[in-house]
Amino acid sequence: MPATSVFSPLDLAARFRAARRQTLALCAPLTAEDMMVQSLPEASPAKWHLAHTAWFFESFVLGQLQSGYELFDKDFPWLFNSYYRSFATFPEKRLRASFSRPGLDQVLRYRQYVDEAIERLLAEDPQPEALRRIELGVHHEEQHQELLLTDILHAFFTNPLKPVYKAETAANGDSGFPRLQVRDQGRPALRFQEFPGGLHEIGHAGQGFCFDNELPRHRVWLEPYALAERLVTCAEFAQFIADGGYRRPELWLSDGWNAVESRGWQAPLYWTGEPGNWRLFTLRGEIPLAAMEDVPVCHLSLYEADAYARWAGCRLPTEFEWEAAAATQPRPGNLVDSGRLLPSAAALSAENAAQQLVGDCWEWTASAYLGYPGFKPLPGTLGEYNGKFMSGQMVLRGGSCVTPPAHIRASYRNFFPPETRWQFSGIRLASL
Ligand SMILES: [Fe+2]
Repeated sequence: MPATSVFSPLDLAARFRAARRQTLALCAPLTAEDMMVQSLPEASPAKWHLAHTAWFFESFVLGQLQSGYELFDKDFPWLFNSYYRSFATFPEKRLRASFSRPGLDQVLRYRQYVDEAIERLLAEDPQPEALRRIELGVHHEEQHQELLLTDILHAFFTNPLKPVYKAETAANGDSGFPRLQVRDQGRPALRFQEFPGGLHEIGHAGQGFCFDNELPRHRVWLEPYALAERLVTCAEFAQFIADGGYRRPELWLSDGWNAVESRGWQAPLYWTGEPGNWRLFTLRGEIPLAAMEDVPVCHLSLYEADAYARWAGCRLPTEFEWEAAAATQPRPGNLVDSGRLLPSAAALSAENAAQQLVGDCWEWTASAYLGYPGFKPLPGTLGEYNGKFMSGQMVLRGGSCVTPPAHIRASYRNFFPPETRWQFSGIRLASL
């Protein structure tokens, strides 16, 4: 987080309002019952996301920096704490679906109560630390917006009725699957763009917001490398499956092969059916693979991404190779504001340049999630935000089709354990 917020209180108030409204807008297609579902231990119910994001502002801004602030409810500070051990105890994460109380109405009142208190604080010439933490809270809210969609996709996948989060309009008729234009351009041949080696500056630069794990900016030596110009597609991944990819231990890391055997993986998460008749479950409903062939494959673990890369005679990029490439090629991407909620096919282009670096799918890298040289977590309890997870996780880069546009940048480091599949995670190949 930079030393000062780049926002004036007025601008930050507008940014705060927009982020808070967007979280509610994402819940609009959901019923109160949908918002209770926790279909994975590592996922959270939508109602919990609503409450926890208010909790963040109450706990780290209002409770600590607003004199005379009165808690909305004396139990909420521990009830909606996620993992901040130096702040309060918290319930076991996998039990969040048990929170039938407080009811949704009360959670919505909690949000409104916190919103009004933050608005008052912003109107009262707040101290710089309050501005910094409100800005952090907005970015925290955006992280949870993405998680909310990610978690709802899994919740609906496990529902036998396979509900559709975003249905097609009635004008499209009842085709049995959404008439979404998913094969709109054809798949460009897979080419690689070469990048020079040498010393590269890695990490956040400039005055805008970043998380503590994007700092300090430092130099990294890179050998010359090449990145695929687009992401691996569903059709290409289907070829890996058809070639016995999930039955050939020589393609897999040891932990990856153990996961294949113990979890029975035979295809990406959300693929059902069998070779020749795959169907993919998405936020737009279930879609046949035939309509998704040119779309980037996603919902893969690091192990599957790595095995595919080995099968293809390539490798995964390091996070430093990815950032050095992305920093020179900023491009708008398919993020949540496109409304598509699915990865998009790469554009057909004669230009020899990497596409889809931003949006579509988070890209697994071969880099372990570690602190940069000289890394310092934020002081106090907020130091638990990122730093304590720097063990056993891998870095993903680039954002996805459910990432808010103001939330992503070239230096952004996402991280998950290598077996994670419910995120929108895909593959960019590297070589050399
Ligand atoms: Fe959180």
